[in-house]
Amino acid sequence: MMPHPNGIVIHPNAVIGPNCLIFQQVTIGTIDGSTEPVIEGHVDIGAGAKILGSVRVGAHARIGANAVVLIDVPAGRTAVGIPARIKS
Ligand SMILES: CC(C)(COP(=O)(O)OP(=O)(O)OC[C@H]1O[C@@H](n2cnc3c(N)ncnc32)[C@H](O)[C@@H]1OP(=O)(O)O)[C@@H](O)C(=O)NCCC(=O)NCCS
Repeated sequence: MMPHPNGIVIHPNAVIGPNCLIFQQVTIGTIDGSTEPVIEGHVDIGAGAKILGSVRVGAHARIGANAVVLIDVPAGRTAVGIPARIKS
């Protein structure tokens, strides 16, 4: 779901599961042209977030606005900040 489909860039080889919510200005891509992210189902990705490289975002995770995700995000957890950290 893309409620404000503006400035969204997704690498064609990225894997995105069902029922993800992707806000404006999100980038999902590689760091160096190699491996793309895998995003499981029902993930909410806040405005301006970047998810880069060989990372996996587990189902029902939440990515904060403007986060830069460079590490795996476990299912159901929230990642915020630059670089993104997993909130408790
Ligand atoms: C990440 C998010 C889902 C967390 O929501 P939440 O569970 O209600 O979290 P809280 O507001 O209780 O914040 C929890 C902590 O994360 C921090 N935080 C929340 N969002 C953050 C963000 N985007 N970047 C950095 N830190 C953030 C808070 O400061 C707080 O830190 P603390 O524990 O050190 O006090 C939400 O803040 C967010 O970014 N949503 C995206 C919204 C969006 O993109 N809307 C677009 C509308 S067009």
